[in-house]
Amino acid sequence: MIKVRLRNAIDRDEEDFVKCYIDAYRGLEAYAYSSKRDVKNYFKWLMKRDRKGIFTVDIIIKTQSFDSSVEKCVAFLACDSNWFSKYENEVVCEIHEIFVRREWRGIGIGSLLINKAVDYAVKKNRNKIELWVGERNYEAIMFYRKFKFIDKEKNGCWIRMVKHIRFPNVR
Ligand SMILES: CC(C)(COP(=O)(O)OP(=O)(O)OC[C@H]1O[C@@H](n2cnc3c(N)ncnc32)[C@H](O)[C@@H]1OP(=O)(O)O)[C@@H](O)C(=O)NCCC(=O)NCCS
Repeated sequence: MIKVRLRNAIDRDEEDFVKCYIDAYRGLEAYAYSSKRDVKNYFKWLMKRDRKGIFTVDIIIKTQSFDSSVEKCVAFLACDSNWFSKYENEVVCEIHEIFVRREWRGIGIGSLLINKAVDYAVKKNRNKIELWVGERNYEAIMFYRKFKFIDKEKNGCWIRMVKHIRFPNVR
């Protein structure tokens, strides 16, 4: 039996963040940091922006003999509820980061994290969630569209996507 535990990330998760990030972005290097040092600094920057908006997922595996093991930090979500979007001309909840380790994809962890981002944005009284996704990161684009993120403008190789929370039918 496996149990999925969603919790706030802490400073000590930095090493796991780096490992998970590098695993998750294999094949998508055009849209990601490549050096461990940059990924570490990125984690520190995220924690400074909005610490309470950074979440991670641990997997608890229980065997029939009641032993259990924990696979820590298989996914991360970094929300920033203090982000001023010049495109929306308002403070939004920005998703700076979301990723799931490859071996744990396709079982709903990404969905759990998006739903957490929505809860967090509502709690922080934001109307919109915004993010930027690489133009050829088709899997992520399909994933966001499924959650009713709308494609907005392109900037270089990035596409901006927005989800309206309070007025979900606005386009
Ligand atoms: C995008 C990502 C976070 C999705 O995580 P996940 O845990 O696999 O997502 P889920 O299992 O919750 O899937 C949710 C839905 O999205 C769909 N989806 C997920 N991956 C998909 C894919 N490759 N192609 C099409 N749809 C996909 C699933 O079909 C699922 O829908 P369903 O419930 O109707 O079957 C994950 O693929 C990832 O980490 N990608 C690499 C990092 C990245 O690109 N991050 C985004 C940067 S902007």
